[in-house]
Amino acid sequence: MYLSRFLSIHALWVTVSSVMQPYPLVWGHYDVCKTQIYTEEGKVWDYMACQPESTDMTKYLKVKLDPPDITCGDPPETFCAMGNPYMCNNECDASTPELAHPPELMFDFEGRHPSTFWQSATWKEYPKPLQVNITLSWSKTIELTDNIVITFESGRPDQMILEKSLDYGRTWQPYQYYATDCLDAFHMDPKSVKDLSQHTVLEIICTEEYSTGYSTNSKIIHFEIKDRFAFFAGPRLRNMASLYGQLDTTKKLRDFFTVTDLRIRLLRPAVGEIFVDELHLARYFYAISDIKVRGRCKCNLHATVCVYDNSKLTCECEHNTTGPDCGKCKKNYQGRPWSPGSYLPIPKGTANTCIPSISSIGTPPKFNRIWPNISSLEVSNPKQANVCDNELLHCQNGGTCHNNVRCLCPAAYTGILCEKLRCEEAGSCGPDSGQGPPAHSKPALLLLSALLGAANPLVF
Ligand SMILES: *[C@@H]1O[C@H](CO)[C@@H](O)[C@H](O)[C@H]1NC(C)=O
Ligand SMILES: *[C@@H]1O[C@H](CO)[C@@H](O)[C@H](O)[C@H]1NC(C)=O
Ligand SMILES: *[C@@H]1O[C@H](CO)[C@@H](O)[C@H](O)[C@H]1NC(C)=O
Repeated sequence: MYLSRFLSIHALWVTVSSVMQPYPLVWGHYDVCKTQIYTEEGKVWDYMACQPESTDMTKYLKVKLDPPDITCGDPPETFCAMGNPYMCNNECDASTPELAHPPELMFDFEGRHPSTFWQSATWKEYPKPLQVNITLSWSKTIELTDNIVITFESGRPDQMILEKSLDYGRTWQPYQYYATDCLDAFHMDPKSVKDLSQHTVLEIICTEEYSTGYSTNSKIIHFEIKDRFAFFAGPRLRNMASLYGQLDTTKKLRDFFTVTDLRIRLLRPAVGEIFVDELHLARYFYAISDIKVRGRCKCNLHATVCVYDNSKLTCECEHNTTGPDCGKCKKNYQGRPWSPGSYLPIPKGTANTCIPSISSIGTPPKFNRIWPNISSLEVSNPKQANVCDNELLHCQNGGTCHNNVRCLCPAAYTGILCEKLRCEEAGSCGPDSGQGPPAHSKPALLLLSALLGAANPLVF
């Protein structure tokens, strides 16, 4: 049994050291789930939002190729050197280790040259398309934290689609299209991630940036996670607080960076000129030397440790949650509905722990999600208040956007988007329940109550 834990050493150190003082001197990014603090009642646990460290996720995936027999070398065949149709005596032979190019070589360590790579059979059955699906499966939801980078040993494909699944491969959505000619290949206008904005960050684009054939030196294809983060966190991702605030409130945005599987659909190899050279079909094939995928286990901010055990990733859940993603409350801890942890207030977040079931504590709790207080929101986004420059948050019923993170609601309304009548929540709506704003309400109190009154996590 192979057991690997990422991150635990640092987390333990912080936990232990923080016992010595009321607060640790420096917080990491949600790298502890709890810490001991001193209060009037003595030492108590203080719970906070937490997440596993971002790591190289290619160590934990399963790879599958379609068609299954598309890897070169069985039977042995010869292929032409990259870009040189007159040097066609290179050999691929699956039964000779030095001449074999199995899929594992896409994920091994790439240090000094020569690099090791997976290679497909050549396009000898032209004009039948040479197409290959490479499916990467984690059997676990993971959150991407850095660009996906694919390094080709051959020329970069003329046409390719990167797809993702969020349901363990049952359904697939395109993530990005790549082509030398987007209009021709996919009937899409070519775009670059730099053309997007906060408003359009979830748009699926076709890019021509990475598809030039043999002629250029570059071998790399990106799926740009960091450029998308930067729309919220600024260049060089300095304001992560702003990104975290946005991820907290916008499920669609969170889901965009979340996957259980990725699929690279290679649709047309690099041709490099307009016509396929039919006399030298051994020139055309796919070869990939490296795939980089960085991310973290999705644990809903209820775990810092993700365990790889028996070829399976599992969050080591805290806050009395359970499940592979800490997606529900433990038995006997269902005193309020399960809720993910919250990144806010920065930097500690809110744990939203599961509490003992009602039968064991008597009265049900008043709120099932604790939202951050006002001053911490001011800190998390220094932008001008009340201006929503992001289309993802639509305040309703006259609510105004606050710091791009929350809605400020008129007195009669509540909910994160001001979508609910306050009296409805109190169960006191009548024909004359006075839904207008009370005369003496103060704005600060209004915001606080809007935050606390949110009964459910936001679902778009
Ligand atoms: C690749 O997967 C897609 C679905 O995502 C499927 O339509 C296609 O037939 C597959 N191609 C190959 C070569 O298996
Ligand atoms: C979970 O339950 C145990 C047992 O009642 C309790 O000691 C612990 O503090 C709880 N943890 C959290 C995070 O609420
Ligand atoms: C609000 O958050 C700030 C910063 O985290 C903290 O100093 C302050 O005590 C909090 N106020 C309340 C009312 O919880």
